[in-house]
Order: sequence, then structure tokens, then C-alpha cells
Amino acid sequence: MNLKGRDFLKLLDFTQEEILYLIDLAAELKEKKKKGIPVDTFRGKNVALIFEKTSTRTRCAFEVAAHDLGLGTTYLDPAGSQIGKKESIADTARVLAGMFEGIEYRGFEQEIVEELAKYSSVPVWNGLTNEFHPTQMLADLLTIREQFGYLKGIKLTYMGDARYNMGNSLMVACAKMGMHFTACTTAAYFPAEELVAQCREIAAETGGSVTLTEDVMDGTRDVDVIYTDVWVSMGEPDQVWEKRIRELSPYQVNADVMENAGEKAIFMHCLPAFHDLKTKIGAEMGERFGIQEMEVTDQVFESKQSKVFEEAENRMHTIKAVMAATL
Ligand code: CP
Ligand code: NVA
Repeated sequence: MNLKGRDFLKLLDFTQEEILYLIDLAAELKEKKKKGIPVDTFRGKNVALIFEKTSTRTRCAFEVAAHDLGLGTTYLDPAGSQIGKKESIADTARVLAGMFEGIEYRGFEQEIVEELAKYSSVPVWNGLTNEFHPTQMLADLLTIREQFGYLKGIKLTYMGDARYNMGNSLMVACAKMGMHFTACTTAAYFPAEELVAQCREIAAETGGSVTLTEDVMDGTRDVDVIYTDVWVSMGEPDQVWEKRIRELSPYQVNADVMENAGEKAIFMHCLPAFHDLKTKIGAEMGERFGIQEMEVTDQVFESKQSKVFEEAENRMHTIKAVMAATL
């Protein structure tokens, strides 16, 4: 398997074998990290980390992974560069490719990261766009495999806003890996028809499936993974909160959902999560709408079934694999 020089923009661009290779490499790098075996073979090379939206996990994962690999890093924050304001993406790509061996980009439309990759002569890695979050997928697949020992045949149900980056990406990841994906939400939040059709075609070959349902009990009965994400994503206007809370509250992950899924089921969330009032936005929504928690209850979030912190750690090991494989 040789992924040298490849961009990592969305899982649709990768075969099942390539995805498995990256997960296996991540598992190997994780083991080396735990044993203290150095992997800093990329000394003398540098990567640019561009964030047009904020981040905790993705930024830290890229920085720590890069340092472990011996790479130098330059972080460009959401405000502190010329990108988009004074300099086009095409020009930025060519400038950065002259100084760095790889470029991470988190931003808005997928077409921006695709454009960056088109004009960059070095690998570009998608650190989240409105449409896709592919590095998160590798971490999620690694976590699921660690928990169950396999991927093929796993039943994963995604609740909430399934037409944005996380719903789209999980549907693609499941289809690619021969897993059974269900979007369990109100119809207005189902992923786009075209992507559903594309994933159903992929799933037909891998033995997976894609199901869309509005019925919470049907959609969550006897599944392996219950997954959710925030109801309002980065870059969306504050005005949508009220409508989202009203429309998506029936799809909150709570004790009834987990019980319906069964004892063996795990709970996953890309994080950050609104499971209590201990955040600025959480407290504000609590005051405005009289709620204590949003997409997941604190009880589920803190339960034994919740694997969210294992999942978060795996962001680092999988991002390390992406850089090591493509550089
Ligand atoms: N899951 C995730 O991408 O988290 P950050 O926004 O903190 O990077
Ligand atoms: N859907 C969320 C994911 C955060 C990791 C967002 O885009 O804000």
C-alpha cells in the first residue's frame, strides 16, 4: 500500500483497503506511543495547520502527532492570515507548498479544501468542512474496532442533524466498511438524496446498508453504536437554535434510546457536546429554553457505554497515521 503524495479530503476518495491500511497504521502508531517507541522519522519537514473555524481536538491531534513524527508545525488561526480576505485559495496553496511538506485545512465549503488540494503540490488534509470530517471517521472506525473487534456488519445509528459533516461522513464510512448505517431523525435532516444514493451503491458492494427513519424505537433497536453530534454546527447562525431544539429534541440520545439499543451498545460523539449547562452556549440555551442538556443527556454521556474520550484520543493516533502515510 502506498499513499505517499495523496490528499486526504473525504473517505469517498479511498478504497476499503486503503481505509483499513490507515486504521491498522494508526493502531500500530498508538501501540508505539504507549510503549514509548519513537517514530520521529520526519525530522526536517514541516506542516501548515490552517483553521478557519475553531478547534480543540483536531488542532491538538495534528500538533501532537506532528511533533511525535518529528515534524515542525505552523498554526494559522481563524483570523490571523491573508487566506480568503487578501489572498485566494489557489495562491495560498502555491505559497504554502513552497514552504511546507503538508497542509491541514479546516473551513467552510468542501470545494475550498478541494481547490487548495488542486493547486498544492504537497498533500492536503481535510480537518473538517461543512460537508465532511474524514479524519474524525478514522478515529471513529478505530474506536469501534477496538470496542467490538471488527467493523463489517456493525450497526450504527446517527441521531440529530444527519445532513451535515458528521452525518454525511458516517454514512460514507459505514458504506465503505460494510457497516449498517441508519439516520434516525426528522426527514428534513436526512442526508442529501444524491449522497444517500451514492452510499447505497457502495454499500451494495461491501455488504453494508443505508436506512433513513423518523422512528426512534425502530431506528435504535438492537444497534451497536448510537452516535450524535451538536444540533447547530460551527458557522451556522445563532437564530437557528430555537428551531433545531424544537425539531431535534425527539432525537436526543437518552437512557431510553440506550436501553432500546441494548447493553452491548456504545455511545459515541465527535465532541464538543452539550450534555449539561457547564458551557457558555449550554447555559444560554438552558436559560432561553429551560433545558438541562441537548443532543445527549448527561447520564448517557457519563455512562459506562460512553466511549467519547477513547474516541477523542484516537483522533491523534489516526491523524498521525494520515500524515505518516501520505508524506
Ligand atoms: N471533533 C472535533 O473535530 O473536535 P474539535 O472541533 O475540537 O477539533
Ligand atoms: N458538526 C460539528 C462537528 C464538530 C466537530 C460542527 O461542524 O461544528
